[in-house]
Amino acid sequence: MAKFYDATMKTSEELCLGRWRAELLKHVRGDVLEIGTGTGVNLQYYPDTTHRLVLSEPDENMRQQLKRRVQASGRTSVEITSDGAGRLDLPDESFDSIVSTLVLCSVNDQTSSLREICRLLRPGGALFFVEHVAAKNNPRLLKWQRFLEPFWIFFCGNCHLTMDTESEIVAAGLTFDQIEKTSMLSPPPVVRPTIRGIARKACA
Ligand SMILES: C[S@@+](CC[C@H](N)C(=O)[O-])C[C@H]1O[C@@H](n2cnc3c(N)ncnc32)[C@H](O)[C@@H]1O
Repeated sequence: MAKFYDATMKTSEELCLGRWRAELLKHVRGDVLEIGTGTGVNLQYYPDTTHRLVLSEPDENMRQQLKRRVQASGRTSVEITSDGAGRLDLPDESFDSIVSTLVLCSVNDQTSSLREICRLLRPGGALFFVEHVAAKNNPRLLKWQRFLEPFWIFFCGNCHLTMDTESEIVAAGLTFDQIEKTSMLSPPPVVRPTIRGIARKACA
């Protein structure tokens, strides 16, 4: 998957994802953690004012590409960890911003990953997300998502099609500053329903 990831995503990046990433990531601030960084597509969008940038990527092949991209970017103060989103070996309340783009579909346990995100966020800090989700308002498409999901999980790196990520973010205790329910352009219809936005941890 690591080998073909950027090429597979090229059209979606050009049609919508690139713009969504740029719009979202211009708002991140302070100490930043990105989970499931993949090949590092988001690197180019982080503001220069970002202090500490920690990139979590458990897949060895993705991580190799990520390391090359970090080196090429010339960015300093970047740390790469192989820890997954379910358990990161970092102290509580370490980050002002946590970024997840197209990752919460692939984690083994979304509930515990979001709990971990809450643990790592400072009070008043925020999760910045773009995630494809279950087609809750389109029963016909949801049926197709359910049908295809076992194959998708197997062939697409544990990617689930029917995640109710919006509800899980709320259940984890975060509150939406903004959320847009939209449709990704170009991938197969079962991957198109998407939420993007910012969810915040309450101030202490
Ligand atoms: C579809 S790719 C998205 C990559 C990148 N975030 C992007 O926006 O292009 C999903 C990524 O999540 C990573 N991933 C899978 N399970 C994970 C976990 N438990 N914790 C963190 N990352 C995980 C995969 O290795 C893969 O790099």
